[in-house]
Amino acid sequence: MDFSKSDRIQKRFHDVIPGGSHTYAKGDDQYPEFILPYIAKGEGCHVWDLNGNEFIEFGMGLRSVTLGHAYKPVVDAAYRQMLLGNTFNRPAAIELECAEQVLGMIQGAEMVKFGKNGSDATSASVRLSRAYTGRDMVAICANHPFFSVDDWFIGSTPMSAGIPKAIQELTVKYQYNDIGSIKSLFQQYHEKIACVILEPEKEQEPKNDFLQEVKKICHENGAVFILDEMITGFRWHNGGAQSFYGVIPDLSTFGKAMANGFSVSALLGKKEIMKLGGLGHDKERVFVMSYTYGAENHGLSAALETMKIYEREPVVETLWRQGESLAKGIRMSIDENKLADFIPIMGRPCCLVYGTRDNDKNPSQPFRTLLLQETMKRGILAPSLVVSYSHTDADIDRTIEVFHEAFHIYRKALDEGIEKYLVGRPVKPVWRRFN
Ligand SMILES: Cc1ncc(COP(=O)(O)O)c(C=O)c1O
Repeated sequence: MDFSKSDRIQKRFHDVIPGGSHTYAKGDDQYPEFILPYIAKGEGCHVWDLNGNEFIEFGMGLRSVTLGHAYKPVVDAAYRQMLLGNTFNRPAAIELECAEQVLGMIQGAEMVKFGKNGSDATSASVRLSRAYTGRDMVAICANHPFFSVDDWFIGSTPMSAGIPKAIQELTVKYQYNDIGSIKSLFQQYHEKIACVILEPEKEQEPKNDFLQEVKKICHENGAVFILDEMITGFRWHNGGAQSFYGVIPDLSTFGKAMANGFSVSALLGKKEIMKLGGLGHDKERVFVMSYTYGAENHGLSAALETMKIYEREPVVETLWRQGESLAKGIRMSIDENKLADFIPIMGRPCCLVYGTRDNDKNPSQPFRTLLLQETMKRGILAPSLVVSYSHTDADIDRTIEVFHEAFHIYRKALDEGIEKYLVGRPVKPVWRRFN
């Protein structure tokens, strides 16, 4: 593959954009050193870089693109709305239509407010919980990698530079599926914790009614129970993972899949809490998600169309089915190459990820880089194995074929030494204090 056109502009990217990317997860340090394509266009689950190299993409748009790139019905809906004007001094009718649509799908939620990024919604959920309970502390799940770009969360990561200690100390952590770790927090910080936030599920499934138990403990201790459905929403189920698991949170947050890659997020929840952000109550007013572009009309039109497609077409069903086929084929190849101890395939079929381990069976960034290198060289762009509605049987078959070839090289690298096969420096995790 020829990456000359991308290589030529790489320095310009770094000259004007810190890190050469507007989002850390897309950065050069996340990909092999000499395979750093810049994307020219996408269609369905395929993308083309500046040199015209074609890739089948997985986890598209950081898991926001569930239907497909440039998905025509969604693009048309957004365009139709743009022709009517995009932002006015008073709410546009589409704001109500979109609000009613999402509330019709997420059972148990009574009110909604829209924003642009997931962080708008998660940070608003934390502020509302603090105002509602009159408490300052926030309990987050230690096993979940990302909740918000704002201080209450980033302060708890290794990239906490610039965040006051006083803020950092207000966020505490517990372990997923370990109800005891949440109980201990409530004991240690008695009547200080405003809310408990978590993703309903990542690689581990909830055990022993974990989600229901978290909700119970929150309520026994006067805290707000928040489910962050940024990734699970419209992927596990049309009603979110909360519907899949039959647990109604006090507040929940959506984004990503909600508008097939258009910038729309939402905070949903019980009226009793949400109304603090509104008019007509006698409590102190809470500033909740108010942005110039919070309800940008073309985004809402895209969201409305996307959600209607989820309702009328077997999108979620297809994500699960295609993920299942992919997992089956890839696991067979892993077994054939005797890599079961080195490449775990994790997560639900609709949201698969892979691990990469070295000879000692420890998680390995060099081996992750090798797998990315060998799959990208063959036209697969797969930082994860998260499928979309656009992944056809042919795409899945081709991906299995490519991974099979890459696994063969992985096996040889384990046996003969990775230096022989890895070209360039290894990738690095986003969460690190220094470069
Ligand atoms: C679970 C979860 N919550 C919140 C966010 C923040 O969303 P955004 O990047 O749109 O602000 C993300 C982003 O990846 C996420 O994965």
